[in-house]
Amino acid sequence: MKLWGGRFTGEADQHFAAFNASFRFDQRLLTADLQGCAVQARALGQAGILNEDEVATIIDGLQQITNAAQDSAYVKQVAFAQTEDVHSFIEARLVELIGAVGYKLHTGRSRNDQVATATRLFLREEITAIDALIVDAQRALIELAEKYPNAPLPGYTHLQKAQPILLAHFLLAYFQMLTRDRQRLAEVCNRVNVLPLGSGALAGTNFPVDREWMAQELGFAGVTHNSLDAVSDRDYLIEFTNAAALTMMHISRLSEDLIIYATQEFGFIKLGDAIATGSSLMPQKKNPDSLELVRGKAARVFGHVTAFLTMTKGLPLAYNKDLQEDKEALFDTIDTLSDSLRVIATVLRNIEFNAERARASAIRDYTNATDLADYLVRKGIEFRKSHDIIGRVVVYAIEQGRELNELTLDEYQNFSPLFTEDLFAAISLESCLAGKNRTGGTSPEQVQIELANARAKLDR
Ligand code: ARG
Repeated sequence: MKLWGGRFTGEADQHFAAFNASFRFDQRLLTADLQGCAVQARALGQAGILNEDEVATIIDGLQQITNAAQDSAYVKQVAFAQTEDVHSFIEARLVELIGAVGYKLHTGRSRNDQVATATRLFLREEITAIDALIVDAQRALIELAEKYPNAPLPGYTHLQKAQPILLAHFLLAYFQMLTRDRQRLAEVCNRVNVLPLGSGALAGTNFPVDREWMAQELGFAGVTHNSLDAVSDRDYLIEFTNAAALTMMHISRLSEDLIIYATQEFGFIKLGDAIATGSSLMPQKKNPDSLELVRGKAARVFGHVTAFLTMTKGLPLAYNKDLQEDKEALFDTIDTLSDSLRVIATVLRNIEFNAERARASAIRDYTNATDLADYLVRKGIEFRKSHDIIGRVVVYAIEQGRELNELTLDEYQNFSPLFTEDLFAAISLESCLAGKNRTGGTSPEQVQIELANARAKLDR
């Protein structure tokens, strides 16, 4: 029996019925919806709407569906065209199994509070799984950093060489971003984790179900406090997608950095065969498709954020069918983010770092000019003035085709009498790195501390 057939005398247009149906994708909510159904049955029993036998029969039927659903072929055995959505699927199967008593389950409930409950249950699980994937990507970052704890790398601004840093410092920057992503997901999860069931279609329910008890049974931290809001709120999906977009943005940036570092021009890293691809035409090629796809897929998730906001901005309260469109965007966000996180972790574990080449690059092209300016500051010159002097030294050195450590003391003293022999020690790569020794700086000492902090966080 159709969920809503009584009011209708005519048949639905076949194309519209298919257009209207969501079972093709919302079957992914089956397990979560079954959980919500079981608690609904028991709440109706407590409220005296169902007798003990009826509750037991319904719970047993739901359990049979749950067991059958372990087999992925199960839903395919049912004619799709007959099934509007996952909720009507469950009701139809239930009645098939236990008879008309199955119809009592929907007492005082609407698919509107039902779908919101199932989606929240489902998303809560997915957030836990995604959090674990973020942690694994963090672990892969730390593994690589621990392999080369003291290896220098050029640091960039404007993608122009700026100052030397440590590779571990670079990797720890991404560790920090992913840490914030985990915090954000945890905060989103707090708002996902409330129970809408008992809100009915929009106005609440006529039956005395104990909403607080249902929340507790389903592991929700609380119940929603306005039925109109509860059935039409999709903030938690928008927030989640937004958090996912930020994580995609972060791993997309990391991808871009690694793509650049893997070029022949930079050559700081080599990508393993496991995560690279070849060219159908050019035999010599090894391409970073894995990273390019992560970068490209970030765009999909950004698109879903826009879709969600656009979908909801003009909706009058309360439920509107537009909201069914939330599912595919949500599922695609989850899948895209999860797959991308897995790939990023695998790429990080298949990187060969060319420490020699990175070091040679880190000390070239006047990356120590700022440290030379700071040297003169320590001799008593105002920074702006010192900046100007070193600027002229750099112009001179460029003309000479020499690096700053290749000029003589005599040459330096033409620019300022304050230069003495100790300048050369002050601008060595080791000094440049060791000098950045405040919290969050790139000195080996600070990086060692942050690396240990990161490791401790992962092992906790
Ligand atoms: N499949 C629907 C959705 O995902 C379930 C809710 C349907 N409610 C309704 N009033 N038509 O939104």
